Amino acid sequence: MRRNCGSLRLEDSGSVVLVKGWVQRVRDLGGLIFADIRDRSGIVQVVGGKELKDLRPEWVVEIRGKVRERESRNPEIPTGDVEIEVEEVKILNSSKTPPFHILDEIDVSEDVRLKYRYIDLRRPSMQKNLILRHRMAMAARKYLDSLGFLEIETPVLTKSTPEGARDFLVPSRNYPGRFYALPQSPQLFKQLLMISGFERYFQLARCFRDEDLRADRQPEFTQIDMEMSFVNEDEVISVTEGLLKEMFREAGIDVSLPFIRISYREALEEYGSDRPDLRIPYKIKNLTSMAKGGGNRIVESVVEAGGKLLGLKIPGGLSRKEVDGLDELVKSAGGKGIFWLKPDGESIRGNLRGDENWQQRLCESLGLEKGDTGIFMAGSGMEELMGLVRQEAARLKGAVEEDFKFLWVVDFPLFELDAEGNITSNHHPFTSPREEDIALLDREPLKVLARAYDVVLNGVELGGGSIRIHRADLQKKILKILGVEKERFAFLLEALELGAPPHGGIALGFDRIVMMAAGVSSIRDVIAFPKTTSALCLLTGAPSEVDPEQLKELKIKVISS
Ligand code: AMO
Repeated sequence: MRRNCGSLRLEDSGSVVLVKGWVQRVRDLGGLIFADIRDRSGIVQVVGGKELKDLRPEWVVEIRGKVRERESRNPEIPTGDVEIEVEEVKILNSSKTPPFHILDEIDVSEDVRLKYRYIDLRRPSMQKNLILRHRMAMAARKYLDSLGFLEIETPVLTKSTPEGARDFLVPSRNYPGRFYALPQSPQLFKQLLMISGFERYFQLARCFRDEDLRADRQPEFTQIDMEMSFVNEDEVISVTEGLLKEMFREAGIDVSLPFIRISYREALEEYGSDRPDLRIPYKIKNLTSMAKGGGNRIVESVVEAGGKLLGLKIPGGLSRKEVDGLDELVKSAGGKGIFWLKPDGESIRGNLRGDENWQQRLCESLGLEKGDTGIFMAGSGMEELMGLVRQEAARLKGAVEEDFKFLWVVDFPLFELDAEGNITSNHHPFTSPREEDIALLDREPLKVLARAYDVVLNGVELGGGSIRIHRADLQKKILKILGVEKERFAFLLEALELGAPPHGGIALGFDRIVMMAAGVSSIRDVIAFPKTTSALCLLTGAPSEVDPEQLKELKIKVISS
């Protein structure tokens, strides 16, 4: 009877089974030869004579034999009580020596793993990650279906959808000089589906963004994209919380609901990040009111110029070397560096010069006790740099709890200024402002708050969404403030005038969610065939040059710069 390798147990003793899989390793103990056979379900030991002699790692085989109790059991593996006494071996395929062993602990670079990804994916940890990914996708579909959501596909060859990254373009052969854009998200189509009356839509949607890559970013990635009609923020949030709970359950992680909500402002001021890691118990304190009268001219002049004095308590303190490291970190991130104070019983050590009494008061207001370190920064817009210090110091102190700390960040500003000082959307141009802030749009647009929400887990942004603008006049106004020509979104503006219901939604980064649930540190480990951080596919060699004939047909000339 055909059985999976990993399924055999003591109670199977005596039965004749057929297993098919890959040779993990072969041990020749003189007359007796042992081989480990692996398939997706696990590994089982087979034992025999010369019929096993020629087998090599990664050969593909079919083995028939009788299950029996092992003489020396292996408690490390689930099949460790049994072995198969070989009766017949069939070699289905041989294999060259693989570039690395199929083990969880391997000592090869990620480039080699990606070049031979099909081998890498044979490793049990990678199989586990992709099986979890499947399970979580199934759980998401089941949950959303149970709530009346319909999965509807939207186009991949489309028009640019602004999410703040560069587009990947696809040239049109029929219309030389014209291009499709791959979607950065299905944003506009899902809004159109609400106008079509579907009320509840979702899709496991592939999105494409040409942006700088990091451990949690890929040029193509998957979103669980959702949209609902006639809803407010609370309804989208509650559906999303339920969805995350169901998905994490697949990884054996119990998520308690509801998640806390904090405002964008609070996130920035207290944690120095719009995606705070709440596993870290440190909070940033605003000490600006204490900046004056302490005899520190630098701090005083910064505050006179409208800046702030921020402080952060590091319980248990940091060594001189660690403080210097944090100083370097801040400088390399574009800051001026940090000040520090350390109460040492009698005296206070540190480089935040000033009256002793003032130093004492600063230490007290941070709650510093003997041996703690206080980190200080003075300036404007220092919050995010302090956020970096918060994270790094917690890492150094081992103060990052093992936990899953979800939260919502709400009350985002609708707009922000880009590096050139131009007004841009904080999320995207289709996000609705709060009703009570609409009057501010003309006068003080940067003060307008959005009906947007981001869901964050342990410092990673898992998803973001908003209640949308469903009135054409307001949408036109927002596009105008952003300096976007309304002709570009004429189709949307027209649709908004043809019976658009109020609607809102969210998109969750599916790869990131699986990454967090699997407990790995890169989304590449939960994607079957990912690209490198320089956007290359090492397996196929994409992107590659194309045949000149193809370019001619597309009427495209490549200019080498
Ligand atoms: P947003 O741009 O915030 O929103 O994207 C939603 C989520 O997608 C994930 N994500 C990524 N994951 C991997 N690689 C990337 N390059 C990448 N970029 C984004 C993140 C992010 O939170 N249309 C809106 C959603 C909406 O308003 O409904 C959107 O795409 O986890």
